[in-house]
Amino acid sequence: MSLLAVRRKVACNGLAFVNSIICIMKTLVTGCAGFIGSTLVDRLLAAGHDVIGIDNFSTGQRRFLDGALSSGHFSLIEGDLLDDVTLGKAIKGCTVVYHLAANADVRFGTEHPRKDLEQNTIATYNVLEAMRAHGVRKIAFSSTGSVYGESAVIPTPENGPFPIQTSLYGASKAAGEGLIAAYCEGFGFQSCIFRFVSILGERYTHGHVFDFYKKLKDDPLRLPVLGNGKQRKSYLYVQDCIDAMLLAMEMAPDKVNIFNLGVDTYCEVNDSIGWICNALGVQPALDYAGGDRGWIGDNPFIFLDTKRIRALGWSPRLGIQEGVLRTVAYLRQNEWVFELRAS
Ligand SMILES: NC(=O)c1ccc[n+]([C@@H]2O[C@H](COP(=O)([O-])OP(=O)(O)OC[C@H]3O[C@@H](n4cnc5c(N)ncnc54)[C@H](O)[C@@H]3O)[C@@H](O)[C@H]2O)c1
Repeated sequence: MSLLAVRRKVACNGLAFVNSIICIMKTLVTGCAGFIGSTLVDRLLAAGHDVIGIDNFSTGQRRFLDGALSSGHFSLIEGDLLDDVTLGKAIKGCTVVYHLAANADVRFGTEHPRKDLEQNTIATYNVLEAMRAHGVRKIAFSSTGSVYGESAVIPTPENGPFPIQTSLYGASKAAGEGLIAAYCEGFGFQSCIFRFVSILGERYTHGHVFDFYKKLKDDPLRLPVLGNGKQRKSYLYVQDCIDAMLLAMEMAPDKVNIFNLGVDTYCEVNDSIGWICNALGVQPALDYAGGDRGWIGDNPFIFLDTKRIRALGWSPRLGIQEGVLRTVAYLRQNEWVFELRAS
């Protein structure tokens, strides 16, 4: 049972002062209409929180919020984190922020270098400033294993050698992490910074399963593959990711708490192609672009050490293959996501 649920139970038993504290507890989720953000919103609501969500719908989907909007405990603010006034309205009265809004795309960073800076770094600065202005002191941040660049230490621990950045996305997230840590030191904030591997599961709208599925829909006989298919990657199921975030936000003791989130294994891109093709019943010719990286900034081997989050009692329930298959099943039942992304 979550700490909040325990407190609510106590409140129901007659401690009015606890109840009054609970009633004013509100959580802000930025990027609330996204793949991970909307899943988090549903989980927070199920755990008894009141949730405010902010999203500019650049990649978020309204449909992901249908359940939340009918709950009576969720308010949606449609707006951009770069707009201070709207952000201020959203954050007012909140006690904690889960900051997930970002440009989550790694691959096209070099095509629009300013986007990562604005959406990931400046937006994070704006969130921190809004927190400061409204007396909010606790933040969860969705960072990424991309901040490690191409680490020489595998599995990569949170306190590995200071990394050299290889993507604008990773660099913008590393800058966001830096700002958060400095606000913790400077203004008495507490933070959990989560470095995710790639996340899979229901509401998935971008990433390798999405790309391969879409290509196979267009042509089941030939599958173009970026790189040589031997890139080694690790993936985590979205509900396992949320479990870890919620647990850490309750238990993490330090001012700045950094957690890798991932499973304790990895696979080759070729393995994942095999699972996807089997699930779809297709046997395409594989057309490799060649080279050991799919794009500039693609880390050919990502595998994170997750001992730190496991020490809090978390472990993932699904392995990589199961996560891939659930994602394929979701995409099969929700092919509308391809049309929206295309438009
Ligand atoms: N999906 C992954 O595999 C993965 C891996 C590592 C880290 N992350 C991080 O997790 C977070 C969520 O990723 P996701 O996969 O759910 O991506 P997503 O694109 O589905 O969600 C991001 C959401 O943020 C919103 N948004 C973007 N910029 C905004 C702005 N300026 N103001 C308001 N809303 C804005 C988008 O509309 C979208 O709803 C991101 O911070 C991403 O960098 C994701």
